[in-house]
Amino acid sequence: METVKIKDKQFDLFIKQNDIENAIENIAKTMSADLKGKNPLFICVLNGAFMFASELLKRMNEPAEVSFVKLSSYTGDKTEGQVKSLIGLNENIQGRTVVILEDIVDTGHTMVNMLEVLNLSSPKEIKIATLLFKPEALKVDVKLDYVALEIPPDFIVGYGLDYDGYGRNYPNIYKVKENL
Ligand code: IMP
Ligand code: MG
Repeated sequence: METVKIKDKQFDLFIKQNDIENAIENIAKTMSADLKGKNPLFICVLNGAFMFASELLKRMNEPAEVSFVKLSSYTGDKTEGQVKSLIGLNENIQGRTVVILEDIVDTGHTMVNMLEVLNLSSPKEIKIATLLFKPEALKVDVKLDYVALEIPPDFIVGYGLDYDGYGRNYPNIYKVKENL
């Protein structure tokens, strides 16, 4: 599809599945090499990262351990809310190499919060792998170890990402059409 409509917004095709998966393939190679022998615990941040995690992890060579977490926030504010806790992390991460799998880094607040929470449990190291990164939107200092695709600061949906809960299912990524 060239365009999709979700609720009040129109979106145009922006990145095709094939290009997304080539980009994932590239970081998968680097990550496989870097993480060899480290027994990493992959932490997939729900809901957005499920498709990215699926494609990435299929390309990891060694048997991988994967956990799926959600972040619970104090406030309703999506991006600036303080993270209270991580729901669903049952593994003991003390002394382990942890690899966060995220859909998109925008302002960077979510990742900073997540690092703070995980660091309380004394992992050996934490690496961040993100499907998408909007460098121009970044507001905080956070080191991203693996970035599949850099994009401009426009609102997108598809490949796990949603607009008001919808659109995560699309295999391509779509960019919001600005009203003229
Ligand atoms: P950050 O805390 O500002 O870096 O935002 C990260 C979170 O905001 C992501 O995990 C997404 O859930 C959401 N987000 C940021 N940009 C977009 C977008 O363009 N489309 C859909 N969700 C987004
Ligand atoms: Mg997310």
